[in-house]
Amino acid sequence: MELELIEEGKTTLWVPIHDSTATFPPGSAPIFYNPRMALNRDATVIVAACTEPRTYLDAMGASGIRGCRVGYETGTTVTINDRDPDATTLIKKNIDHLGIDASATCRDANALMSEEPFDFVDLDPFGTPAPFIDAGIRSSVRMIGITATDTAPLCGAHLKAGIRRYMARPMNTDYHAEVGLRILLGYAARMTARYDRGIIPQFCFAHEHFVRLHLKLARGTQAADQTLAQMGYIYQCTGCPYRTEGSGFFPEPKVCPHCGKQLNTIGPLWTGAIQDPEFLSVMNERLPGSGISSPDELGKILTCCMQEPVISFSYDYHKLAKAYRVSPGPIAGVLESLQNMGYSASRVHYSGYCIKTNAPLETLRDCLTAQ
Ligand SMILES: C[S@@+](CC[C@H](N)C(=O)[O-])C[C@H]1O[C@@H](n2cnc3c(N)ncnc32)[C@H](O)[C@@H]1O
Ligand SMILES: [Zn+2]
Repeated sequence: MELELIEEGKTTLWVPIHDSTATFPPGSAPIFYNPRMALNRDATVIVAACTEPRTYLDAMGASGIRGCRVGYETGTTVTINDRDPDATTLIKKNIDHLGIDASATCRDANALMSEEPFDFVDLDPFGTPAPFIDAGIRSSVRMIGITATDTAPLCGAHLKAGIRRYMARPMNTDYHAEVGLRILLGYAARMTARYDRGIIPQFCFAHEHFVRLHLKLARGTQAADQTLAQMGYIYQCTGCPYRTEGSGFFPEPKVCPHCGKQLNTIGPLWTGAIQDPEFLSVMNERLPGSGISSPDELGKILTCCMQEPVISFSYDYHKLAKAYRVSPGPIAGVLESLQNMGYSASRVHYSGYCIKTNAPLETLRDCLTAQ
């Protein structure tokens, strides 16, 4: 296997040379390395720097880049695992190259996580993390990071696969990235509550082809009950832009107050906060001088996340304008009008075209048509 030395953040690392003519990197090399996930790893490095875990497990290491970056850029003691022996050999080479406090293991991730506790457990599998979340939670003492790249099942494009993996019904909406994020969060919440533990989302975001969660785990029945109290559903009309949300485990049949159609049920999913605003500002303060690869891009996401109100859905501005047959003016004007009326209104981190607001649909429509 031919290797090349690359740099990501402050870390240099050996990775397999990829066929530049291949359309998607994973198919072109025996050990996975995707430079497009640099932002995802940047976020992990900053989260680890802010939470100072005693031990960190990169459960699916591949080249080991995630764990190596956490080890090298934050000084954390790391374990980097992969069940593929060739990947483990490369991980060892990278650990030696960086001289970090790290060990490499070649285990099935679920077996390893069932046996050993780690302060911060990180799951970064191919596609869905669903088969690893249970063992990941059992292994985690305090923090868990979860990446999902199966956005088609999560967001409703592959409905049956989504239901099978997450025991929830997604739907392909104009805010599908948020649906995917909340379905995954809801799944993690239910898996965690079984152990009398709860989740406290620190920084969760959807970007390009992935969803990434960083969760603090809390102990005790109260934490578990508080977690489950944040489960619920989104109810989406298929006849008009109306949408709403409700709490509880059992969906209620609802009819659209605007057009009279039966509302579609999305969930069960997490309807609580997907961020801890204080944690986000601590992260934000760390960005300058952190040496990560995309400080500006991550900074933009953090700033937007801090402004988003705790609402489970958003509206695609252009689709709304089309539905109401108006030519859309600047989004900023609509946001300002809504805020002037006392409503929460913001852009969203996962799309440049969506508005999140607690204003009723008719108010939103009036603001749009008044532009
Ligand atoms: C998406 S890659 C990991 C990427 C890496 N974390 C990064 O940031 O570049 C997934 C890796 O998980 C490994 N893997 C898949 N199933 C596994 C399992 N059950 N236990 C341990 N490793 C597994 C694969 O060999 C592969 O190297
Ligand atoms: Zn309707």
